Amino acid sequence: MVIRILPNPDEVNRLVTEEFIHLAEKAIRQKGFFSAALSGGSTPKSLYTLLGSDRYQKQVLWPKVHLFWGDERCVPPDHPESNYHMIHKLLIGKIPIPGENIDRMPAELEDHNRAATEYEQTIRMFFRLGAEELPRFDLILLGMGEDGHTASLFPGTAVLAEKNHLVFASYIEKFGTYRLTLTVPVINQAANIIFLIFGGSKASILKDVIEGRYEPDRLPPQLIRPVNGRLFFIMDRAAAGKLRNLKGE
Ligand code: 6PG
Repeated sequence: MVIRILPNPDEVNRLVTEEFIHLAEKAIRQKGFFSAALSGGSTPKSLYTLLGSDRYQKQVLWPKVHLFWGDERCVPPDHPESNYHMIHKLLIGKIPIPGENIDRMPAELEDHNRAATEYEQTIRMFFRLGAEELPRFDLILLGMGEDGHTASLFPGTAVLAEKNHLVFASYIEKFGTYRLTLTVPVINQAANIIFLIFGGSKASILKDVIEGRYEPDRLPPQLIRPVNGRLFFIMDRAAAGKLRNLKGE
């Protein structure tokens, strides 16, 4: 695990944007395409804005990039809470990426299990997976909530132990709603996993995740351990405020 602590969110965004560009360039050179599953919530908004800016977007060969989602709220794609909507507004609408390279979760379907199955099929077809195979995304971007959830892997939910599905419709009791999420085995198969974390309000839970006891049911990010990939926690100084070793690396 690599921990990077930067003075402020702007510097974190610059680092992660440059890492995205570097990983995309490398994957495209090696195998002709780059696959990334993006995160939602408020934290990555400024990152997507930066990546879509004139200065940076020119450095990515977008026609060779395929975008997926790590999780999604069960709302239509034009809903203000939709992660697809947010990413479309800040990034997709600004870059020359072909529509067929955008694989959003079909979260508007009333049958949430069917939505999960359909997205699983989308992933299986894209990666040409056999029955027991898992996809290997080049990059999975993750955030973390103040309650310790990541993607839509919430503390105490059954999806944390899910081994048979790539995508799962998970009922989140405190919101009284379902969310679609990639499952732990899929995330752990990625070549690169980046947690992006900002702000002092997440400092305590982040300390527990990184330095505390192994309690994955309360701290789902502890389940994220790449099988054969790299794991980064990239944060601003405020989020790192309670870590023992402030230098981190
Ligand atoms: C979502 C996410 C989620 C997010 C955390 C952090 O759809 O909400 O993908 O896992 O990363 O909730 O959210 P904030 O960035 O808003 O704190």
